[in-house]
Amino acid sequence: MSSNQLDKKSQAWSALFSEPMSELVQRYTASVFFDKRLADADITGSLAHADMLAAQGIISADDLAAIQKGMAQIREEIANGQFEWKLALEDVHLNIEARLTQLVGDAGKRLHTGRSRNDQVATDIRLWLRGEIDLVTGLLRELQTALVDVAAQNVDVILPGFTHLQVAQPVSFAHHLLAYVEMFARDEQRMQDVRRRVNQLPLGSAALAGTTYPLDRERVARTLGMEGVCQNSLDAVSDRDFAIEFAAAASLVMVHISRLSEELILWMSQNFAFIRIADRFTTGSSIMPQKKNPDVPELARGKTGRVVGHLMGLITLMKGQPLAYNKDNQEDKEPLFDTVDTLRDTLRIFVEMIGGQPNTQTGAKESGISVNADAMRAAASRGYATATDLADYLVKKGLPFRDAHEVVAHAVKTAQDQGVDLAELPLATLQGFDARIGADVFEQALTLQASLGARGTLGGTAPAQVQAQMARHRARLAG
Ligand code: ARG
Repeated sequence: MSSNQLDKKSQAWSALFSEPMSELVQRYTASVFFDKRLADADITGSLAHADMLAAQGIISADDLAAIQKGMAQIREEIANGQFEWKLALEDVHLNIEARLTQLVGDAGKRLHTGRSRNDQVATDIRLWLRGEIDLVTGLLRELQTALVDVAAQNVDVILPGFTHLQVAQPVSFAHHLLAYVEMFARDEQRMQDVRRRVNQLPLGSAALAGTTYPLDRERVARTLGMEGVCQNSLDAVSDRDFAIEFAAAASLVMVHISRLSEELILWMSQNFAFIRIADRFTTGSSIMPQKKNPDVPELARGKTGRVVGHLMGLITLMKGQPLAYNKDNQEDKEPLFDTVDTLRDTLRIFVEMIGGQPNTQTGAKESGISVNADAMRAAASRGYATATDLADYLVKKGLPFRDAHEVVAHAVKTAQDQGVDLAELPLATLQGFDARIGADVFEQALTLQASLGARGTLGGTAPAQVQAQMARHRARLAG
C-alpha cells in the first residue's frame, strides 16, 4: 500500500476490507487524539528498532539514515504543532509511520519489519511511564523535604494527638508531620519498585509469537536504557499489570495526600484554628462574605476518588482478556494519562503549599501553612491528654498498671465534674486518689512537656527522637 493510499483511504491497514468504516466506528476505534501523547516515546522506540535492524543487516545503512532524518523532522513538526494528526490513521503509530513514508519513501515502509503495533504500543507506554515515574519520584522527594522543613520549625509545638478523633496524648507537631514523610517515603520506594518492572522491553515480540527476523532484542533494550527484555512474547504484548501497579502506587500517594488534606481542612476550621492556609490556596464564597474555604485540600481529597477509580478501571480492563493482545488494551491510556496528570498536579500544588515559593524580595521560602501554636497547645491542655502519664507515674511508684488506670479514671471524673484539667487539681485532691502522688507529679507527668519528653522510645514523640528522625530524613533526602 502506498503512502498516498494510507493517507486517503478511511482504513489504514489492508486491501482485504471491501467496505469503509462509518464515521462513528472510525471515531470509536481511533485513539490518535489521546495516544498522540506517546509520540516522543514512539519515535524513540522506532529509532532504537531501526538502529538494531541496520546493525543486524535487516535494513541498509542508507535506510537507517533516512529513517533518522525523517524522524528528526517529524519530532520538530510535532513540537511546533505543525504535524497533521489524522483520525483516519487511527493511532499515533500509524500517523507517524505514514508521515515518515511520505518524507523518506521506502525506508519508511521498512521500519515496521519484524515489529507489530502490539509490541510497539506496549514499548511506548513503558517508555513514557518510566519518564513519568521519575518525575513523580522527584516531586515526592520535594514534598518530603517541604514537610521536613516545616517540621524543623515545629519540634516544640505541641498539639493533641488523636485516636478516634478524640484527644488522646500530646504530640509534637513536627512528629505529626514526619508521619506523612514516612508515608511519602514508602510511596517513593513503591514507585521505584514499579519502575523496575515497567522498564522491560516488549519490542521483538511482534504481534504475539515473536518474529522470523534475526532481531537483537538485548541491543534495543540497551539503547532504550531498559533493564531487561520481556521473556514471553504473548505476555509481553498483552499484559498491562505494570500500568495497574503504577495506578495502585499512585492511588496510595493520593490516599496519603487525602489524609493530610482532611487534617488541613479540620485544622483550618474555626473550631480547631490550628493553622491558617495562605489566601492564594483558598477561595471565598459567593454568598457568605466571611468565608475562606480550603479548596486546594478539598479538591485533592476529591481527586483521590478519581485516581482510585482509574485503578479500578484498569484492573477490570485486564480481567477478562484471553491471550494475547486485544483492542481492549487501547483503553489503558486515558485512565493512565489522567492518573499521571492528576498525581503530578496534586503533588506540585502540595509542594508549593507546604514548602512555599521563594519570596521575591527576601528569597526566603514562605510556607502556605502558618501554625497557631497557642491554639494547638490550648487544645492539648483540654481533654485530659496527660491522663496516661499520670497512670505511668503511679506505675513507677509501684502500683500495677491496671490499678493505676482505675485511679486516674477517678481523677479525670473529678476534674471533669469541676471543669478543670488534671494539672489544675490541687495536690491534696490528687493525693486523695492515691497517697503515692507527690509534689513532683506536675513536673514529672502532668505538663505537656513532661508527657512529650517521656516518650523517648524509638519512633516516639520526644523532641530528641524527633530530632533524630529529622536528621535521618535529611540525610536520605540530600542530593
Ligand atoms: N492503538 C492501539 C492500542 O493502543 C495500538 C495497537 C493496535 N494493535 C492492533 N492490532 N490493532 O492498543
